[in-house]
Amino acid sequence: MTVLILNGPNLNLLGTREPEIYGATTLPEIEQLTLAKLKSADLSGMFFQSNAEHEIVDSIQKAPENDVDFIIINPAAFTHTSVAIRDALAAVGIPFIEVHLSNPHSREPFRQHSYFSDIAVGVIAGFGVNSYLMACDMAIERLQD
Ligand code: DQA
Repeated sequence: MTVLILNGPNLNLLGTREPEIYGATTLPEIEQLTLAKLKSADLSGMFFQSNAEHEIVDSIQKAPENDVDFIIINPAAFTHTSVAIRDALAAVGIPFIEVHLSNPHSREPFRQHSYFSDIAVGVIAGFGVNSYLMACDMAIERLQD
């Protein structure tokens, strides 16, 4: 069983990007922690980040041929703008969890709408790197059912 972890724009800057909001953990560290957690449950993980909307759409379109069973996605700023990524997730029909390091609901009004939440299995936000790790736990629970 395979879990695809997708990361949107500017998440490659984690560690130096507004650490008071997003924490000090880098994206390679998040990759290492999440893939290790999935591996400990005998699941394969694929990890991808892009600043380009079309590359995220392409990776979702390719998910069925890559035998992806579950998606964890932090769409980052695309959370609030991207009908295209939402449509790709709906098209492949692979269940997904939306994650955020910060809690968008406690921030600017433009962050309070998500194009993903209503079609997600669930949303985990506000716990830094632990948002990703909790999402891995939930993916593991679902895939082991
Ligand atoms: C984010 C929240 C978004 O509003 C923001 O644009 C991001 C990161 C988060 O993980 O807290 O880039 O998705």
